Amino acid sequence: MADPIRVLVTGAAGQIAYSLLYSIAKGDVFGKDQPLILLLLDITPMLPVLDGVVMELQDCALPLLREVVPTDKEEVAFKDLDAAILVGSMPRKEGMERKDLLKANVAIFKSQGAALDKYAKKTVKVLVVGNPANTNCLITAKSAPSIPKENFSCLTRLDHNRARSQVAMRCGIPADNVRNVIIWGNHSSTQYPDVHHCKVSVKGEDKPAFDVVKDDTWLKGDFISTVQQRGAAVIKARKLSSAMSAAKAICDHMRDIWTGTAEGEFVSMGVYSSGNSYGVPDDLIYSFPVTIKNKTWKIVEGLEINDFSRAKMEATAAELVEERDTAISFLAV
Ligand code: NAD
Ligand code: LMR
Repeated sequence: MADPIRVLVTGAAGQIAYSLLYSIAKGDVFGKDQPLILLLLDITPMLPVLDGVVMELQDCALPLLREVVPTDKEEVAFKDLDAAILVGSMPRKEGMERKDLLKANVAIFKSQGAALDKYAKKTVKVLVVGNPANTNCLITAKSAPSIPKENFSCLTRLDHNRARSQVAMRCGIPADNVRNVIIWGNHSSTQYPDVHHCKVSVKGEDKPAFDVVKDDTWLKGDFISTVQQRGAAVIKARKLSSAMSAAKAICDHMRDIWTGTAEGEFVSMGVYSSGNSYGVPDDLIYSFPVTIKNKTWKIVEGLEINDFSRAKMEATAAELVEERDTAISFLAV
């Protein structure tokens, strides 16, 4: 068996972590042969709760889990990390937009970026989940200048899975039969769920989503707004933000980083824009379609973009520029 890898989950006493940790610890993300040391960070008042989570992980008797380290100290949590899943932060409540969390959460990601820079391996793969995820991810990457920007990504896989599932339910087929949806831009209500390159498999044959769904009005209207507003709809119903589906998406995202995407398939991920793809401005974390090989993502280039899509991609980019500038102004205070 391989040597154990060191994996950090922050916000480890929170509700997403409660759905996430079992899947990681049993090998769903890093592989069934990969032993793990789990570092669990939360704030000091949550340490008693975290102790309960540790007891439960121990009680699962999972063979891959070699050690669990609960802590409220960044220098312990970020030491020699191979992977970091940054969940810990404040979730939004009903009536808020995710960017309303910027002031409260950006300071956390500045501090954790600096801790990554100081203590983690330079090869660490960092996934930012806490909202507003794209801008928090950008701040984390900027605060860790010694780690390549390509090592940072933010979670838009939940939106990707939502889009996939909406199309599948509409067609009455399993979600697996729907591939290559794209989430462009921000994990916010301006995101653009795009099915122009989506393939739907019917009786073993891949067809364009528009041909199978046969309802352009829905695909260009309610489908998009349903995916954009899904997080808010869950909060309204549960009075808590999504956790089970968020944890599943985190597992999908990190597993794809670790083991790569399937041939012919791309997934959505918030990654660093260097200004060279689809006219998206540089210095943003923007969700693109990506393929992954050898733990390295590559933006899928050359997809045809019509005027309808272009306008939506630009609108979500404009929101990200504004969020970035606001975040930087908060950091300067
Ligand atoms: P939660 O309130 O249940 O848990 C958050 C945990 O983070 C708490 O235990 C809290 O004590 C801890 N925390 C706060 N500050 C911390 C710090 N500085 N260091 C370490 N831990 C800290 O919230 P949740 O439902 O688990 O959601 C967590 C975040 O994930 C929220 O910002 C939420 O909006 C976001 N989220 C993102 C997506 C996505 O798709 N990107 C999906 C769902 C939720
Ligand atoms: C989600 O998409 O469910 C999360 O980002 C939580 C939220 O605030 O919507």
